[in-house]
Amino acid sequence: MLIRPRRLRSQPYLRDLVQETYLKPNHFIAPLFVKEGTSQKEAISSMPGVYRLSLDLLLKEVEELRQVGVQTIALFPVVENHLKDAKASEALNPNNLNARAMRAIKEKFPETIIMADVALDPYSSDGHDGIVDHKTGKILNDPTLEVLQKMSLVHARAGADIIGPSDMMDGRVRSIREALEEEGFHETVIMSYTAKYASAFYGPFRDALDSAPKFGDKKTYQMNPANIREALREAVLDEEEGADILMVKPGLPYLDVVKALKDSTHLPIAAYNVSGEYAMIKAAGERGWIDENRAMLEMLLSFRRAGADMILTYFAKQAARLLNETKF
Ligand code: PBG
Repeated sequence: MLIRPRRLRSQPYLRDLVQETYLKPNHFIAPLFVKEGTSQKEAISSMPGVYRLSLDLLLKEVEELRQVGVQTIALFPVVENHLKDAKASEALNPNNLNARAMRAIKEKFPETIIMADVALDPYSSDGHDGIVDHKTGKILNDPTLEVLQKMSLVHARAGADIIGPSDMMDGRVRSIREALEEEGFHETVIMSYTAKYASAFYGPFRDALDSAPKFGDKKTYQMNPANIREALREAVLDEEEGADILMVKPGLPYLDVVKALKDSTHLPIAAYNVSGEYAMIKAAGERGWIDENRAMLEMLLSFRRAGADMILTYFAKQAARLLNETKF
């Protein structure tokens, strides 16, 4: 036999020599849930190991993440029910929970990179990402853009380094970019949720924020899981409208989309390893059906292999700890 691919797999250091892809803690963005109060650490039953944290404990979590090499976080506020309304007014309050949390984090850890998720759902009494016309049940595109612009400015002023529009309204990247430029936020990054699918994998996240739609579903704005050419079209638009980073969400069932976007643009690509993907590995790990740590690292590595430059993942701390101890 002349050709034996196993030669290069025959010894550990030979395998190292030909390893193509790596995972490092600086590839991770940790999504965090913040709630009102002090000393609050509330478990989320569908996301074992993830908590809704009051601001004091959130700061501790940011510090622990920094210690293991994760310097970027994405912040999601648990908005109290009495603050939710049809216009998502609380999203525009310069002193809302998210804005207060961002100022506190920036004061203590100025180098931490903070991403603000921009969409109305955590603040909306309808649980939708845009403004709802209650007569027709339609999600109104253009009136939502104005709210997204204002919401982005609230967060940029509070210290957000990255604005992450997750709402899938048409034209939102341009609207937000124009608003940021106009107010002098020339360095604020836009990480667009470019290809965000109408997915069953967001379930645990909606438990965490109590943000599930009160009627209907999100299929008139989030994408059909059957489509990939549509993702490429969204990517072209986001790039033209001034996005700096393009994201695919969910991650694991959409690795082909990650790869397609990577091949079609020069912008960096992010993948969101969403709550349902986290829950699956945790649940099987708890039952002893899979080796949780190995499955986690293998999954995260698959994002890198598909072309993701960065990964939003609830596993950020757990994975970073392991990577610091071993190599993968
Ligand atoms: C809000 C938003 C969602 C997620 C991130 N931002 C939920 C949704 O669109 O319904 C989901 C994240 C996850 O499941 O981990 N627009």
